[in-house]
Amino acid sequence: MYWPQRDAQTIRRMRRQLLGWYDACKRDLPWRRSRDPYAIWVSEIMLQQTRVAVVVERYQTFLDRFPSLLALAGAPEQEVLAMWSGLGYYRRARMLHKAAQFVVEHRAGSLPATAGDLRQLSGIGSYTAAAIASIAHGEPVAVVDGNVERVLCRVQGWQATGRAGAAALRRKVEIMAGQLLEHERPGDFNQAMMELGATLCAPKNPQCLLCPLAQDCVTRGEHKTPGRPKMLSREIGCALALRDGPLPGPRNREVLLEQRPETNSVMPGLWQLPMLLEAEVPEDALRMTVRHAIMQVNYYVRVRNVEEAEVARLTAAEGQRRWVALPDAATMALTGLARKVLSRAHLLPRLLAEAIARRSPVDVV
Ligand code: ADE
Repeated sequence: MYWPQRDAQTIRRMRRQLLGWYDACKRDLPWRRSRDPYAIWVSEIMLQQTRVAVVVERYQTFLDRFPSLLALAGAPEQEVLAMWSGLGYYRRARMLHKAAQFVVEHRAGSLPATAGDLRQLSGIGSYTAAAIASIAHGEPVAVVDGNVERVLCRVQGWQATGRAGAAALRRKVEIMAGQLLEHERPGDFNQAMMELGATLCAPKNPQCLLCPLAQDCVTRGEHKTPGRPKMLSREIGCALALRDGPLPGPRNREVLLEQRPETNSVMPGLWQLPMLLEAEVPEDALRMTVRHAIMQVNYYVRVRNVEEAEVARLTAAEGQRRWVALPDAATMALTGLARKVLSRAHLLPRLLAEAIARRSPVDVV
């Protein structure tokens, strides 16, 4: 009903063009080599808020450690969070873990197969449910994420006006996505739409000359999309406190880590470097500066070398602290910032998996 100008033949052509382009040009992404609903579920949760390039780096390591839903459900939460490190938005990892435990306890370990049932699990909204059900089970349900919405709005020349307009537009886009969906290959079709939005039909500089839908697109990229919200910036300081521990060899060097309280709304339970009371750091104590983005904030972080005896005077105690041997720190659920600082200081083993193989207990101070 929303595209009177598109007849059945045009719709068929659009489907054919899009799938032909996808078959020829799709990126070789690791989750596309599997039909295992569990593996696809993990990939879709990771892809919700993390860039494809980062997910590619982390996905296989996560699956190597938790190869099945049962393995994930049986793991301690801290280990799941540690393996989520670098992906950000840790709430997703907690919900994935909880959902796996729910499925083991209440569904004898069998993941729901339909989009409607998948939506009942924590962390799975309608877009993720549609992606999993169509890719893993061939259910003909359309995925509408931000990329798909942009593609279809450009194709149709639609633009939102105000907040109410955005909701109405979303509804139109959902109807249109459902009408356009190819029922023989719904998983591939959905991925093709998302892929088109992520590659050729990007927010800036769309590559219309290469686009499989260009012939049927009203705007061909001239259509404006809303800009990204402006990032805020904040300056903070954190302490890199190192000491020699009691053990000989490579496990001798220890770093002071602090666990964020479980009551924190942001990254509860993760391990961070202690925060400095003052963001200003004297030149001779400055180890490095890093920029770290969390949601809409760019943090400019000064990292200070802090002796053990200075810790109490210079840092703000926010949670439980531990001196941790460096190889063990690599296996813990670190915040992205802590992992960034430790690896830039060449204090973390390169491969998390290697470190996990050498895992041993840590002492609580
Ligand atoms: N974004 C979210 N899921 C995706 C998928 N399966 N393929 C491409 N982009 C995606």
